[in-house]
Amino acid sequence: MIIKRLETPEEYTACEKTMKAIWKFDDRDVIPHHVLKPINEQGGLVLGAFENGTMVGILVGFLAFYKGELHHHSHVTGVLDRYKGVGYQLKQKQREFVISQGLELVTWTFDPLQSSNAYFNFAKLGVVSSTYCENYYGEMRDSLNRGLVSDRLLVEWRVKADDVVRRVEGTFQQPILDKIPQAGIINETESRDGIRKCASLNLRLTNKRLLLEIPSDINNIKEEDMRIAQEWRDITRQIFETYFSAGYSVYNVTSEMKDEERRTYYLLRKDVHEDKSN
Ligand SMILES: CC(C)(COP(=O)(O)OP(=O)(O)OC[C@H]1O[C@@H](n2cnc3c(N)ncnc32)[C@H](O)[C@@H]1OP(=O)(O)O)[C@@H](O)C(=O)NCCC(=O)NCCS
Repeated sequence: MIIKRLETPEEYTACEKTMKAIWKFDDRDVIPHHVLKPINEQGGLVLGAFENGTMVGILVGFLAFYKGELHHHSHVTGVLDRYKGVGYQLKQKQREFVISQGLELVTWTFDPLQSSNAYFNFAKLGVVSSTYCENYYGEMRDSLNRGLVSDRLLVEWRVKADDVVRRVEGTFQQPILDKIPQAGIINETESRDGIRKCASLNLRLTNKRLLLEIPSDINNIKEEDMRIAQEWRDITRQIFETYFSAGYSVYNVTSEMKDEERRTYYLLRKDVHEDKSN
């Protein structure tokens, strides 16, 4: 696998095609090649992952300001289904590039109900978040987003932070759910006919650490019962907004098999920037 910055007109056009294949975008939703090029050549970064000369993954990020800090905003990262693992390599290349520019921050947004993205962002890369964006893009037309309001978490990837460096070096110990000390449980859930939904909700916890469970396959729930998917959006929006206002941040995600079912939890805590313990 070769990960590299795009250079030629043919590569920018291939990037459009790969984007369409990954997200099932129609023509209107693709970032056009004539926009990709200036992004890439004016301080931003457009990467392709190539397998035997074919582009199987892409990353597009541009220079931006966040709270007055020059940084990269990463707009899309994606790989074709059968190349899982390549997304991680694309993000590592982005990290190296940003550091080479003397910058320390990459931001992006993602749908907090997409559990594999949540795990990828928090557990594997080490982002943190305390910003919830309601209906960020308005209505989305692509197959992944269709049906639910486009709420997003804005994540901050401090590429030189200790927790990020330890992940890059492979020395970060991912916490085990049952061993997280003094964790308050925000929502109890129950599964009926293979569909997990919220059974109870506590918005008044003050524990040092909190656990928020999300479904491990919201896309399946969307197909099976849109009302339950919508309920997940409404409840998680309320939870994130309540606890972010109370000073909590999301600092990690665990995803473990329990009784042959994957269970995924956001981990929240206060003082996320100071507290280095798991
Ligand atoms: C997001 C993306 C780039 C990640 O790339 P990747 O390096 O291939 O990452 P993987 O999908 O292999 O890894 C994701 C991790 O989530 C875990 N995971 C898989 N399904 C999961 C689920 N339902 N819930 C929680 N975690 C899950 C995987 O086990 C993996 O962790 P592991 O390596 O420890 O096993 C890739 O999944 C992708 O292209 N998705 C489609 C496009 C997209 O949604 N992009 C993000 C928004 S722009």
